[in-house]
Amino acid sequence: MTFDISKARDRFPALQQDQVFLDNAGGSQALGDVIDSISQYLSKNNVQLGASYHTGSKSNTKYEQGYQAAAKYMNAGRDEIVIGASTTQLFMNLASSLKFPAGSEIILSKMEHETNVKPWLYMAERLQLTIKWWISSKEDGLKLTAENLKPLLSDKVKFVACTHVSNILGTIHDVKSIADAVHEVGALFCVDGVSYAPHRAVDVKAFCADFYAFSWYKVYGPHIAVLYASTSAQQHMKPLTHYFNPTKTLEDKIGFAASNYECVQSIPLIANYLSGAFSAISEHEGKLQTILLDFLNSRDDVTVMGLTSTDSAVRVPTISFTVKGMSSKAIVEEAEKGSNYGFRWGHFYSKRLCDEVLGLEPEGVVRVSMVHYNTEEEIRGLLDVLKNVLPGGGDGR
Ligand SMILES: Cc1ncc(COP(=O)(O)O)c(C=O)c1O
Repeated sequence: MTFDISKARDRFPALQQDQVFLDNAGGSQALGDVIDSISQYLSKNNVQLGASYHTGSKSNTKYEQGYQAAAKYMNAGRDEIVIGASTTQLFMNLASSLKFPAGSEIILSKMEHETNVKPWLYMAERLQLTIKWWISSKEDGLKLTAENLKPLLSDKVKFVACTHVSNILGTIHDVKSIADAVHEVGALFCVDGVSYAPHRAVDVKAFCADFYAFSWYKVYGPHIAVLYASTSAQQHMKPLTHYFNPTKTLEDKIGFAASNYECVQSIPLIANYLSGAFSAISEHEGKLQTILLDFLNSRDDVTVMGLTSTDSAVRVPTISFTVKGMSSKAIVEEAEKGSNYGFRWGHFYSKRLCDEVLGLEPEGVVRVSMVHYNTEEEIRGLLDVLKNVLPGGGDGR
């Protein structure tokens, strides 16, 4: 069965109200099926897992099915994933568990949400590692590539982290070719997939990542996240569980009993909804981003951050911009006064990128982040909203 984009909106109760949701990179709306199943689980199955009585064993099965569906969804083994409260929390757990010899180097990028930086700074302090910073220049289109990474690589490097898609720039990085370069020097590669996962299929084996995480609350589900660590990468982790518990799986090692039962059991419904959907999603998102980018690119007073291409092979529809003569905050405030459009301004926790790489004012960018349930009509309506708000009454020339 092919995915029918025109019916997608009907599956989301929140979309039936008078609000245009364009802060989806912050968090997406949840599927109706997910909401219902959580309510059902709490009504009928809310017992402590591991028991053998009737309801207990049904709950065990539902939880296990959630884990199995999450693993299959990202092409990982059941023992290679852990579900937790947030990507930030899961990276902190991983950072508390990894072991590298003192004096080793790690490479962190400046294009990140702080979630893919702070845990590794903590790890570096804990293990006495040296940090090297990886920056992509404006000439490289602010893209992280194997080429701009290679000058930093050596056999001293044990760990490299970068984002699959920046939550500001929307550019898709070729993580497979970066993984190949990282593995050539024998280091481990960690990818933040949070801004990628709502838009494209996740296949951790094809990406060749050693660690990969994303957050289900941005992928049409509840507020939980998942981390993958390959079986071989897990050899570099010290299990942090109670001494009498097993240590075999990633969940055993750093799960901390934090996989929220009612949310985990809803994952099969997200996976079902997205099964076979991504080519239709990427085609539709391409149309949405073209409408907005054509407008922004046509204005002399607008700077789109990163690549200005409308091609959905190179970017997802997370689009950030600044406007000469008007602050990002004022644009959002004016738009909210006169419309039901919801989008935001700021640095979106990619503060190093906004301050040090892009050199932005404290109010950062205006970010419009679309997903497949947004319509072309909504984005054409956004152009009208922006035309009313931006300086010069519309064309900005
Ligand atoms: C790119 C990126 N990485 C990580 C995060 C943090 O995710 P979580 O809230 O699950 O910790 C976000 C949240 O906005 C994000 O956009």
